[in-house]
Amino acid sequence: MERLTERDEEDGAPQPVPPLLEVRDLTLRFGGVSALRGVGFEVARGELFAVIGPNGAGKTSILNCLNGVYRPQRGTITLSGQRLTGRSPAAIAAMGVARTFQNLGLFEQLTVIENLMLGRHHLMRTGMLSGMVWWGRAKREEVEHRAAVEEIIELLELEPHRHTLAGLLPYGVAKRVELGRALAMAPTLLLLDEPVAGMNVEETEDMARYLVEVRRELDLAMILVEHDMRLVMDLADRVLALDFGVPVATGTPARIQRDPRVVEAYLGGAV
Ligand SMILES: Nc1ncnc2c1ncn2[C@@H]1O[C@H](COP(=O)(O)OP(=O)(O)OP(=O)(O)O)[C@@H](O)[C@H]1O
Ligand SMILES: [Mg+2]
Repeated sequence: MERLTERDEEDGAPQPVPPLLEVRDLTLRFGGVSALRGVGFEVARGELFAVIGPNGAGKTSILNCLNGVYRPQRGTITLSGQRLTGRSPAAIAAMGVARTFQNLGLFEQLTVIENLMLGRHHLMRTGMLSGMVWWGRAKREEVEHRAAVEEIIELLELEPHRHTLAGLLPYGVAKRVELGRALAMAPTLLLLDEPVAGMNVEETEDMARYLVEVRRELDLAMILVEHDMRLVMDLADRVLALDFGVPVATGTPARIQRDPRVVEAYLGGAV
C-alpha cells in the first residue's frame, strides 16, 4: 500500500479518476411507451446527483434500470468500470448499489432494528437470519453487523424508535428508517426515490439535515430523485432534468434553474 502511494507521487501527474457511475444511451420502452430515450450521465465518487422532471418523465425508471429491476433495450451502465446492465438486482446490490422506494418499502411487522439488520443481509456469509447459529464465525459476524447498524441508528437519531414496529412509526421516521436500511447495505451508490414525498415542511427539513449528515459521515455517492425543488437546489452538486424520457439539460443547480428548456418542460406541462 505504502509503496504504491509513493510511486504515484513520484510519477507526478495525478491519474485521471474514472467516474463512479457511467450511464450511456439508456433506452427503455414498455410496449409503445418510451420511458427513456438516450439518457446518459456520469456520477463522480461522493457526488450528490439529482434527477428532476415532471410526473412520468422517467425518473423512477432510471433507478429501476440502475438496480436491475428493469432491463433497458439499449444502453450501458457501468459502476467503477464494471458493467451493471444485464445483472440481477441482488448482484447489483452486492456491487454496492442500495436504494429507497417512492412508496415506502419497510417490513411493517418488524422492528426498526430488524429492518436495519435486513439491510445487512447481503453482507452476511453465515445466513444468520435463517440459521441463528450462535457460535464461532456466525457469532462474530452478528456482533459486526449489530455494530454497523448501531452506527446508523446513531447517525439518523433512531434510538427512541429502535424496538418500535415499522408499521407504527410516524411517516417521517419511517422514511428515515428506510434510508437507514439502505445505508446498512454499506453502498457506494445510494439511490433515493423521492425521500421527502408526502412530508410536511418540518419533516422535509429533518430529512435534508440527515442527508447532509450522511454525506459528511459516509463515503458514498447519491442519486436523488425528487419533486421538491428547494431540496434539490440545496443539496445537489449537479442536476439532470428529464422530460418525457429525454434528457433536457445537465448542470449545476443554479444553471438548471435558469435553463429555458427546463423552465419550458415544467411550465409547459404542469401549468
Ligand atoms: N412497469 C411499467 N410498465 C409500463 N409502463 C411503465 C412501467 N414503469 C414505468 N412506466 C411508464 O414509463 C414512464 C416513466 O415512468 P416513471 O415511473 O419512470 O416516471 P417518474 O418520472 O418516476 O414519475 P413520477 O414523478 O410520477 O414518479 C411513464 O409513462 C410510465 O407510465
Ligand atoms: Mg417516480
